[in-house]
Amino acid sequence: MKVSKICCIGAGYVGGPTMAVIAQKCPEITVTVVDINQARIDAWNGEDLDKLPVYEPGLDRVVAEARGRNLFFSTDVNKAIKEAEMIFISVNTPTKTYGEGKGMAADLKWVELCARQIAAASEKNKIVVEKSTLPVRTAQAVKDILDNTGNGLKFQILSNPEFLAEGTAVEDLLDPDRVLIGGDDTPEGREAINALVEIYASWVPKDRILTTNVWSSELSKLTANAFLAQRVSSINAISELCEVTEADVSEVARAIGADSRIGSKFLKASVGFGGSCFQKDILNMVYISRSYGLHEVADYWEQVIKMNDHQKARFAKNIIRSLYNTVNGKKITFLGWAFKKDTNDTRESAAIYVADHLLNEQAQICVYDPKVSAEKIYADLDYLNTRSSEDNRKYVTVVNDPYEACLDSHAIALLTEWDEFVSYDWSKIYNAMLQPAQLFDGRNILPHQDLKKIGFRVSAIGKSNI
Ligand code: UDX
Ligand code: ADP
Repeated sequence: MKVSKICCIGAGYVGGPTMAVIAQKCPEITVTVVDINQARIDAWNGEDLDKLPVYEPGLDRVVAEARGRNLFFSTDVNKAIKEAEMIFISVNTPTKTYGEGKGMAADLKWVELCARQIAAASEKNKIVVEKSTLPVRTAQAVKDILDNTGNGLKFQILSNPEFLAEGTAVEDLLDPDRVLIGGDDTPEGREAINALVEIYASWVPKDRILTTNVWSSELSKLTANAFLAQRVSSINAISELCEVTEADVSEVARAIGADSRIGSKFLKASVGFGGSCFQKDILNMVYISRSYGLHEVADYWEQVIKMNDHQKARFAKNIIRSLYNTVNGKKITFLGWAFKKDTNDTRESAAIYVADHLLNEQAQICVYDPKVSAEKIYADLDYLNTRSSEDNRKYVTVVNDPYEACLDSHAIALLTEWDEFVSYDWSKIYNAMLQPAQLFDGRNILPHQDLKKIGFRVSAIGKSNI
């Protein structure tokens, strides 16, 4: 079976870039990305490629090549569903904020709505691909809905989790370590798997396209994220130990990373991991494990989250302690708000929690991030519900110039590893600050010894000897 029309429901961080790359690499396939959010679709269709709703290096070029040729963005969800032979579900699956499983389980409301809409709008058999990260056995629920409400049509459900990391999405999509496709081990299931394999095979070597059963595929996605997050929490745990033993966490990471069994990636100690996936997926795994009575398994993975929360809190407390145990009324500059560099995404960013902690102590925070808007920063703080949105606006200012952000500041906290931070004129910044000028490097990217020579009091993760 050859697919000629694809529909993707959800034009977010996953759906947008993934479909843009499929369209670029498969010009013979018409790809329509739909979303209920009109503003988002308008932004995807906008003339100015600098204003795409998702910032990813290189994405503008991919969109420029395919958009209008075989890549379309629309809000007409039903029309796109009707026409497509293959439908990707790429909607948000946040952690539940209410009811049973609150704060732990994934909220599958949007996935279920998609399944119901697919069932209602379809007039022929279709392949439905889960692209959103979903708890194990979600495919069963999707299948149930489609089979019971879908006018007697036949639907094949595939799981095709996305492993791209934000900030390197285009690179990751063009040259993935692997593509994972899970499907039924039946003739129809195998036919559906092959249809999707053929799409990816347009640019991914076949030996990197792995096929499994649906449940292995769903669980592999959660497991990959849990392992990655665990590495960050492990090195962060060691960073605290380094600070009291005069070991240096970068040296320890280099030494252990040279062991090929351990490997050097994902060993950067930081103020804590963020992003839409790590915490959500681990919480999901913890919830599922507990619901099957596997309490030791649940406790084991939950510790990764606890360590991460501890790291964020510890960073904030260190700032307060270093500023003579009070930050009341003091200006503290945040360099970076995104959860990592090269993205405008702020979901679960460590910066939000560090800010919240300092705001509880009545600090005045001034934020500069090269890609994150003031609107988003306030929305992130308001979402926590810790204080009124008027207070968030009173105590937090957002500026577009890093030097203005640092002017008359007591301390700088570097929260995101944006490259541009390294090349600033740090002497100029030092001279514009209140003394003693304190600098807290939450990403260990700045030249600490040089900064110390300028006069800064520098504090970094996992380093006591600066
Ligand atoms: C992650 C997975 O990498 C990706 O495969 C999956 O599809 C989605 O979740 P993402 O969240 O976009 O991707 O970014 P990632 O690069 O994994 O970073 C996650 C967080 O960990 C960031 O806050 C990052 O700064 C932090 N991190 C990462 C560290 O603190 N240290 C490291 O060594 C690596
Ligand atoms: P992700 O990081 O998983 O891509 P995002 O929140 O960036 O998550 O994107 C998910 C998108 O899915 C949002 O733009 C949202 O409007 C869209 N969406 C959610 N439910 C539906 C639906 N039923 N039909 C169409 N679009 C939907």
